Amino acid sequence: MVKAIRFHETGGAEVLRLEDVEVGDPGPGEARVRHSCIAVNFIDIYFRTGRYPLALPNGLGSDAVGVVEAVGPGVTDIRVGDRVGYLIGPQGAYSQARVMPADVLIPLPDGISDRTAATLMMKGMTAQYLFRQVRPLQGGETILYHAAAGGVGLIACQWARALGVTMIGTVGTDEKAALARANGCTHTIVTSREDIAARVRDITDGKGVSVVYDSVGKDTLQASLDSLQPRGTLVSNGTSSGPVVIDTRQLAAKSIWLTRPAMLHYITPRAHMLEMAQELFGHVLAGRISSEPHQVYALADAAEAHRALEGRKTTGATVLMP
Ligand SMILES: NC(=O)c1ccc[n+]([C@@H]2O[C@H](COP(=O)([O-])OP(=O)(O)OC[C@H]3O[C@@H](n4cnc5c(N)ncnc54)[C@H](OP(=O)(O)O)[C@@H]3O)[C@@H](O)[C@H]2O)c1
Repeated sequence: MVKAIRFHETGGAEVLRLEDVEVGDPGPGEARVRHSCIAVNFIDIYFRTGRYPLALPNGLGSDAVGVVEAVGPGVTDIRVGDRVGYLIGPQGAYSQARVMPADVLIPLPDGISDRTAATLMMKGMTAQYLFRQVRPLQGGETILYHAAAGGVGLIACQWARALGVTMIGTVGTDEKAALARANGCTHTIVTSREDIAARVRDITDGKGVSVVYDSVGKDTLQASLDSLQPRGTLVSNGTSSGPVVIDTRQLAAKSIWLTRPAMLHYITPRAHMLEMAQELFGHVLAGRISSEPHQVYALADAAEAHRALEGRKTTGATVLMP
């Protein structure tokens, strides 16, 4: 038996319960992973609240690192004792150990600690696919990036700096603004007291930006559209403030390209996932990106971690220690 966070009904953070669960042995194509560090992501809140439906009761989380302690028949490229991480697969990462499909496990290099790796799997791979695949960025471009001091955000700041991209980042407070700038964000806009599109126009001499990465959604949609150049791209990659509804007439005003990307469509096949991870790890090992958890909770305190994340109280990555 291991401890795991499960939920039996959707709702507020209080639905998360610590329970004893059976793990069992891995079957064909599977591996059992003993977790050392578990990442909390905003998508976990979408599942907990029912915005993304799941059959209940269920586990939660899809992002963790640990050590392989058993492999099932037919698993050849993952071995017992390997340090691994993952970011896709069935929900249930909020647990001390679990059985996973072996083909989603990513071997971790020496030189990257488990805690750092837990901040990179979902969040770093998201920065990789947003900046290098969804809308590949060129040095010299100016972009608008919402929630720049968040979990994905702080890695995105550093990745933008490494690419020579001028990032304008939105944040909720002055403290978050300082943090985003310290991580490479060129300009910051504090949303509690500044008009996003007006500041973007000032910073860009009236031109607007070529790309907006908008993970906030409902609250920032109009400002995102207003900040774009004609024929610019709106990457709607999250809905932290609520879902987005767009009338195509809002795009026609400036011939805006719109995409609503999901990681799953950019991370397969396995060889490609491993290449994405190599690129990310390369930046970390070379010192261009550094990442440590900013909030560390015990697994049993997952509800508290959720309250902080959805309450905009966090910066950078949040992890749970099993
Ligand atoms: N499409 C994909 O494949 C994909 C993959 C990974 C993540 N995502 C999305 O990327 C976003 C970032 O994820 P994360 O885990 O790193 O979270 P996060 O950015 O650390 O946390 C969300 C941040 O959004 C900002 N925010 C603005 N309005 C908000 C509101 N009404 N409620 C809550 N937060 C609000 C807050 O920053 P300020 O206070 O500074 O505004 C908050 O800290 C999420 O929307 C997530 O769903 C998408």
